Amino acid sequence: MSMEAMKRAAAAEALKLVRPGMKLGLGTGSTAKHFVDLLGEAVAGGLSVVGVPTSEATRRQPESLGIPLATLDDLVELDMTIDGADEIDPAMNLIKGGGGAHLREKIVASASKMMVVIADDSKIVSALGRFPLPVEVVRFAEETTRRAITAAFAEEGLACRLVPRMKDGVRFVTDEGNLIVDARLEDANGVDHGGRIEQPARLAERLAAVPGVVEHGLFIGLCSAAYVASQNGVARMDRTS
Ligand code: A5P
Repeated sequence: MSMEAMKRAAAAEALKLVRPGMKLGLGTGSTAKHFVDLLGEAVAGGLSVVGVPTSEATRRQPESLGIPLATLDDLVELDMTIDGADEIDPAMNLIKGGGGAHLREKIVASASKMMVVIADDSKIVSALGRFPLPVEVVRFAEETTRRAITAAFAEEGLACRLVPRMKDGVRFVTDEGNLIVDARLEDANGVDHGGRIEQPARLAERLAAVPGVVEHGLFIGLCSAAYVASQNGVARMDRTS
């Protein structure tokens, strides 16, 4: 099975959880795109749902498929959010934000009774940290914020190198008008010492406390279930605590 076929298979399993009348958070990224595609087919077949996109990029796809959309201000609480992830650890903590949408993704997931992750099995890790952690920051005093982020990692015993997120040769700007730095677990010379985020909840708290950090890509305790596709099929994981 190709990678795209695996992503679609995971999305198809998540679609089985959707019931008529549900208010759904629609995730961002290549895996979530498959879900929105399949949801569009179901809506065309008569399913009635309303979606809240987690990014401007995601908004265009359901619009073109005729999926009714609303804002979180309209709906306040959602039944379920279906989204991809960049890493999933055994406790079902996540790294997200590879697409730069983790701020809205986290707001939408937090407003949902259930967050369901869909992924291929390359996203499963024994500890978070191989994928560079996206941190959304305000534009003001970026260097000051960067130093505080580096210090937060150091307090967890982790060396990190902060790489400005770029797109088409210029700084990537999020849907909320902020910048992103990607925290790589490397020393200042770019050498990877095999760092692992052993205490993601603690690092999440430290990063959230940094003035200038708008949101980081650690999703702690938000994901309730995940459909993970491999060559052997799709397995469901449930968070137990
Ligand atoms: C978007 O900001 C991210 O959080 C995505 O959900 C994540 O990067 C997964 O994307 P893929 O499904 O494309 O791997």
